Order: sequence, then structure tokens, then C-alpha cells
Amino acid sequence: MLDLSILLFATAAAAAATFPSQPAVEAYARRNYFYTDGKYINAARNGETAQYLVGQVYVEQLVPLKVRYEVPLLFIAGLGQSGTNWLNTPDGREGWASFFLRQGYIVYLADQAQRGRSPWLPDEGNMSQFSATLIQEQFTAPQDFPSYPQAINHTQWPGSGRIGDPIFDAFMKSQLQVQTDTEMQAMYNNLSFTALLDEIGPVIVVPHSEGCMHTWQLGDARPELVKAIVALEPLGPPFADYGGPPFSPEWPKSSSEKRPYGITILPLHYNPPVTNASQLTRQYHPPPSPDLAPCTLQKDPARRLTHLSQIPTLMLTTQASYHAVYDYCTAEYFKQGGVDVEWIHLPNVGIYGNGHFMFLERNSFGIARFVEPWIAKIVRRK
Ligand SMILES: *[C@@H]1O[C@H](CO)[C@@H](O)[C@H](O)[C@H]1NC(C)=O
Ligand SMILES: *[C@@H]1O[C@H](CO)[C@@H](O)[C@H](O)[C@H]1NC(C)=O
Ligand SMILES: *[C@@H]1O[C@H](CO)[C@@H](O)[C@H](O)[C@H]1NC(C)=O
Ligand SMILES: *[C@@H]1O[C@H](CO)[C@@H](O)[C@H](O)[C@H]1NC(C)=O
Repeated sequence: MLDLSILLFATAAAAAATFPSQPAVEAYARRNYFYTDGKYINAARNGETAQYLVGQVYVEQLVPLKVRYEVPLLFIAGLGQSGTNWLNTPDGREGWASFFLRQGYIVYLADQAQRGRSPWLPDEGNMSQFSATLIQEQFTAPQDFPSYPQAINHTQWPGSGRIGDPIFDAFMKSQLQVQTDTEMQAMYNNLSFTALLDEIGPVIVVPHSEGCMHTWQLGDARPELVKAIVALEPLGPPFADYGGPPFSPEWPKSSSEKRPYGITILPLHYNPPVTNASQLTRQYHPPPSPDLAPCTLQKDPARRLTHLSQIPTLMLTTQASYHAVYDYCTAEYFKQGGVDVEWIHLPNVGIYGNGHFMFLERNSFGIARFVEPWIAKIVRRK
């Protein structure tokens, strides 16, 4: 068997060569990886039709030295990112996986379908990637390119967050491909993540950003196996993408709808049932203050999200992310649908200066310490 302590120290030493790093302390006793089920399809390649396996997802399991909680955590990264998000930060500190392992949780880290170590059959759909320009402007240094008022308060990214800064570059190197056929991506994730839970049993899911949309789908398909969701700045707002200021009363009718089922691309269980997305009646709400976006919600009486309303949900939004503009709409959408959602805007609990990748920023463990008691209340201690 591989000596994991040596591996851990070697990794920490490599990181320390470039960045300040915490002393490496063993956080896990065992690791394992496997792939979820995918499905066989017939596809033509090089003039020949043959069977290929598609949709399977890479999952890494880390077991702590002492397991204290009965329900494991499943982490799902957002667009262009993978399970590495939770292992360490781009400046060489330990990630959320280590934090929760030390608390005694079994941790699963998954790469989404067709991303990272989850295979993509070339020519299925189409691949794109976030540019370095977008990443610095939207995620790591929005304060230098303020396109929304809250951006000026972004202070927590380690380093300047600008192209050429070694920590930015380390983060940039972790960017992966993004499937532009978002419906295909959602279908494959639904296939593989339901297969995963059918295999491993109940989990608490901790998704980031676009990973949240696939988590809503998973919770809808397997409400009895998703014990809780901790959504970190979920993809949103409901129905259409945020168009950016200035907001016209026509917004979002003027921009195309990305999430016809409110918060997802694929159908969800509503009551009364929705057999066609156009049955969800939309109601426009003007922004309550100039730094917030308008929302599109359901018209009252709203249909209930019958499966998602069985799952306690914590949703976090940071002070200075572009999500601070519209995440309140997503929280309202859940409340309308009867979901037991607790929405926390981090500055309201004294956590300031974060952007969209809060779990990689300087105070990443401060945020983890805020989240952990909420999870611990839901799962039974061994
Ligand atoms: C695939 O995506 C690239 C980059 O987004 C785009 O330039 C290209 O036109 C797309 N190709 C197809 C076949 O959709
Ligand atoms: C910036 O942060 C301060 C302190 O938290 C807050 O009072 C102020 O409203 C914030 N500014 C914007 C534009 O969000
Ligand atoms: C998601 O996957 C489950 C299990 O395979 C399936 O029952 C369900 O219909 C799928 N959901 C959608 C919207 O395709
Ligand atoms: C859904 O309803 C709209 C509006 O009534 C209609 O145009 C569309 O064809 C329907 N879609 C399906 C798949 O039935």
C-alpha cells in the first residue's frame, strides 16, 4: 500500500517551494477512487460505428483518521473546475476537503461528467473554456474591473488576482474544458450522480456555482438520498442569466432563458405538475435597491418544488461576488417553492470581502467554520 503520509508531505513541500504553506498534517487515513456508471452508445468515429461508454464520472473518496459522522459529504465544483478545488488552494494552503476530514467527515470529490478526469468523447457537444481575462475580471480581481457596485469590496483573493501573479496563474492552470451543450451536460450529470448515490447511499452535497444546478437535479431525482445541500453561490438567477446593469423593465424577457424550469435546464417535480416549462408562469419583480438585479419569480400561487422541499438547504453568498447582485432572487424562488432554504449573505454574519471562489480565498477556513455547525446539526454523530 502507498505510504500516504509521505505523499502528503511531498505535496506540501512542492507547494511550499513557491508559496507559503501550512504544515502538513495527515488529514485522512484512506483514499480510493472509482468511476460511476455511464452508458454505452453507438457512435461513428473515423468512418466506423462502434460502442462507446459515455457519461461516467470520476469520484475520489477520502476517509478521515476517525469517522465521526454517519453521512459523508459530496463536493461538486462549478464550471471549468474539478475536484481539485477542495484539495488545496492555489496559494498552497489546505482546502475544504482537509478541513472537513479533520472534523470527521468522509469526503467524496467528484469531477462533473465530461470534465477533468471524467471522459469526454470528442465531438459530443462542444467544448469551450473560460479565458484568463474573464477569470480575473469576474472571479479573482473584480475590484479592478468593477462591473457591479459590490465588486469594490473584494479583498480576500490571495495575491493580486491578475494575470501574471503566481497565485492567479496557479489557479488559471486548473481551468478545464466547459461543455457548451448545457442540456447534454445536465443529462450526463443526472445519469452519473444518481448512479453514484444509488451506489454509496445518503450524502450531504456541497456544490459550487454551476455544480449547484446539477445538485438541484440530483436532489429532485433522489430526495431520500440527499440529506442536505450547502449551495455556494448557485448558478442563477431563476430562468434567465443576469443581463447586467442598466436593468430595463423588459429584462429578462430580452435575454434568452437558460433555465426553463426556474433553476434547472431539465424538468423538476413541481406540484401542480409541470409537463411543459411554459406552465411555470413568470412574474417580473423590479430591483428593491440600485445595487440589486430584478428577479423573475413564479406568479403566485407558486407551484411547489415537491422533492427539493424535502431537503434542508443552506445557501451562501459573499459580499463582493457578482452573485451578491442576484442570489437573493434564487433564495426567493426556493421559498416560493416551499424549500426549507436558509440564505446567508456573508457580510451579515461578519464575513467580509469574498468573491465567487470563497473556499479558495484567504479566509477559506473561516467560512468552513461557519458552515460546519449547520451540517453537524443535520447528521448524527457516531
Ligand atoms: C464550438 O465552440 C467554439 C468555442 O466556443 C465555437 O467557436 C465553435 O463555433 C463551436 N462549434 C460548434 C460546432 O458549435
Ligand atoms: C462595502 O463594504 C462596506 C462595509 O462592509 C459596506 O458598508 C458597503 O455598503 C459596501 N459597498 C458596496 C458598494 O457594497
Ligand atoms: C435523472 O436520472 C434519474 C435516474 O436515472 C431518472 O429517473 C430521471 O428521470 C432523470 N431526470 C431527468 C430530468 O432526466
Ligand atoms: C410547450 O408549450 C408551448 C406554449 O404553449 C408550446 O409552444 C410548446 O410547443 C410546448 N412544448 C412541448 C414540448 O409540448
